Formats: sequence, structure tokens, C-alpha cells
Amino acid sequence: MRTLHEIAPLRETLDDARRRGLRIALVPTMGNLHEGHLALVAEARRRGDLVVATIFVNPMQFGPGEDLDAYPRTLAEDQHKLEAAGCQLLFAPDSATIYPRGLEAQTRVYVPEVSEGLCGGDRPGHFDGVATVVTMLFHLVQPDVACFGEKDYQQLAVIRRLVADLHLPVEIAGVPIVRAEDGLALSSRNGYLDASQRAIAPALYATLCALREALEDGAEPDAALADGLARLEKAGFAPDYLELRAADLSPVTTTTRQAVLLAAARLGTTRLIDNLSLTLPR
Ligand code: PAF
Repeated sequence: MRTLHEIAPLRETLDDARRRGLRIALVPTMGNLHEGHLALVAEARRRGDLVVATIFVNPMQFGPGEDLDAYPRTLAEDQHKLEAAGCQLLFAPDSATIYPRGLEAQTRVYVPEVSEGLCGGDRPGHFDGVATVVTMLFHLVQPDVACFGEKDYQQLAVIRRLVADLHLPVEIAGVPIVRAEDGLALSSRNGYLDASQRAIAPALYATLCALREALEDGAEPDAALADGLARLEKAGFAPDYLELRAADLSPVTTTTRQAVLLAAARLGTTRLIDNLSLTLPR
């Protein structure tokens, strides 16, 4: 696997791959890779001939006081994992390469509606940062397909919308959440949890599962969500939100069948997110 840090050699390498007729599959990441990321690489291998991963801890998607400085940077280990998983090319730029004029002066991509509320409500500007860097990566790599995890459900919806709105010629593949044996969705931020928090953390998924069962059995949504919030608080979480939305993140109506439960909750300073799809009864 080659690792490139600069844009010019990346473009040259990818132009050559395209001339050879290779189908390019992109896996954008912020590094500190776990099995969830490696599932994205596996999906990229199934869908493309040349798998390109990126590692860039994108400062634009972190708010003031968030964990930009603490975010784990583990490039050497990540390179080994990517190579073993069958990735052929890694692009790992620094911030000056991506934002040469600095963050303030940078052109931004804003995706209305779907960026609002949920994580967009708790983290103002977060999805502008995600949409901007992902658009830039699409322009730099020009992939045929790009793989993103379904754990970041709203992020995936934002990316699908920006691709549709900007008529970008890239297919977006959503990859199912990879969970630890106790149900906790894998995340680089799980590494922030101490032992007692790690023991509590699976209660987030357990709560979503209990709620799904209740809602699929016909429970009234507002009451079920209030029970879910109480359950999270009792377990030791400080919930940011627990919401039921239609699968496309629009509000649930009487005709909604395909829906999703979405939650963000804090254990100490660590913010965990999770989601679970469900079918509402008629
Ligand atoms: O999901 C992530 O790791 C990041 O938000 C992404 C998509 C790589 C953009 O920085």
C-alpha cells in the first residue's frame, strides 16, 4: 500500500488508474481504525478495483471545546491495518494541504434541512465541516463509489443529499454498524471511556432495542421515547437526544412505516451515538 501526503502525486496516481480503466472505491476516515472502518474497506474491495482510504482529522468538523486535539492519531498502526485489509492507496494529508488559506477563509459546503437537528443541533457547523471535506475528497479522488458507516446515520444522509444536490457522479454505499459483543457500536471515541463507563455504554444500544420492540408492538412514540430517556439517565448517561424519525430523517407522520431511532448520549465527556432502524405498525 502506498501512502501519499500531497495532492499532486495523488492526482497523478489516480489519473493513471482511471486510464487503466480501474474502478476507484473511496473510504474516507479520520484514522484510529477499528473493525467498523475495516468493514468499509471490505465493502470498497467488493465494489471497486482500487481501494483508496483517506485519513484526515478534519478540524472543520470539530466545534470549539470539542476533542480535536485529543482525537487519537495512530497513523503507523492504521497503515498496517489498511494494508492487511487490502487497501492499495492511502491519502493522509495535513491540515495545510487541505485548507491552505486556513479554516476561516475556506469555501464551505452547507447542506440544508438534513444537517439540522439531531447531531447538527448539538454540534453547530459540524455537518458543514463534514460536507466540505467530503466534497473536497470527492473532487480530489473522483471515486466511482464511496463507503460510509451507517453508525453516523445523519452524516450518511447529509452526504447522500450533497451528492444528489451537486449532481456528483459518485455512488454512495452505506455499511452496517459493527458492534462489540455486548452491542456497543464500534467508534474511535470508545477509547475515551474508562472501565466503569465502558460497562455502562452498551445500555445505549439495549435502550434502542427495547424501544424498537415497544414501537413495533404499537407503543405510543412520545411515551416510549420518554421511557427510553429515563432508562438512559438511570444507566448513567446524560442524553443529548433520543428521537424517532422517518428513515429519510423527515418527521414521522401517520403514514411513516420505515423509521429510525437515533440517540446521542454522554458518559462523562465522551459523546456516543447510535441508531436502529425499525418498521412502524399500520
Ligand atoms: O466519519 C468520519 O470519519 C468523518 O466524519 C469523515 C466522513 C471522514 C469526514 O471527515
